[in-house]
Amino acid sequence: MPEASPQATARTETVTRTLLVALFVSLVCSSFVASAAIVLKPRQVENAIAEMRRNILQVAGLWAPDADLDELFESIEPRVVELETGAYVEGIDPEAYDPVEASKDPARSIEIPSELDVAKVGRRAKHALVYLVLRDGELSKIILPISGYGLWSTLHGFLALEADANTVADITFYEHGETPGLGDFIVKPAWRELWRGKRAFDDSGSLALSVVKGRVADDDPLADYRVDGVSGATLTGNGVTNIIQYWLGEHGYGPFLAKLQAGAGS
Ligand SMILES: Cc1cc2nc3c(=O)[nH]c(=O)nc-3n(C[C@H](O)[C@H](O)[C@H](O)COP(=O)(O)O)c2cc1C
Repeated sequence: MPEASPQATARTETVTRTLLVALFVSLVCSSFVASAAIVLKPRQVENAIAEMRRNILQVAGLWAPDADLDELFESIEPRVVELETGAYVEGIDPEAYDPVEASKDPARSIEIPSELDVAKVGRRAKHALVYLVLRDGELSKIILPISGYGLWSTLHGFLALEADANTVADITFYEHGETPGLGDFIVKPAWRELWRGKRAFDDSGSLALSVVKGRVADDDPLADYRVDGVSGATLTGNGVTNIIQYWLGEHGYGPFLAKLQAGAGS
């Protein structure tokens, strides 16, 4: 076999060295990225919890930018509710309970029957995490997590009801993918303002709250239960109506709210 020339041997050595250096650099970089992800994970979890608490405080009307978040949150009591019965559950720690995780676990969640799934939620956890706003030890508001499909995306938010479990105090959507300038009217303060004082259930106990197409007429006999939509973005408004219909309905928080309305929610 003919011997390799000194030039060919040098070329092979250069290629090998280049590959080794590239391998070393990529190993160092990937271990750096992996360690950063591990080190930053607790901080990310902390930030996510703080962000959720801010959203809850805002919809509860208690948010003050300069105040201590944890201190503000002391007036809010998270409770786990069994949705089917509407009863509080004592055996699950609200601080540790994650309804999103539970909704992925077949043992702890249920498939929503298609005829009831107007908000296209798919599956939901059997237990919900609700937030009670307490003033001087008395229930002052109830904060309910809500979610469902708009036009392009799943909307995630909170609905705040007054202690009568009927009058709306506020609504917020902290996550959505609707179009800026169209469907994103759902996060505008002026639109949120329209919800304050609306009622969810009529005198016969039927769920009547909805977002209409266009404006609610001044002489609309159902004006107390209706919120203006936005022209050109009716479909996102319809999505919000569906979310309200599902979550305040019999398959959602209905049994829990009925208990509160009957004064049996303590
Ligand atoms: C690019 C694009 C983005 C749109 N985004 C939204 C949206 O986020 N929400 C929405 O309700 N309608 C959106 N629309 C309009 C809807 O397709 C639909 O026409 C509208 O919701 C109907 O409302 P209207 O009956 O009041 O006109 C969008 C339309 C286009 C072309």
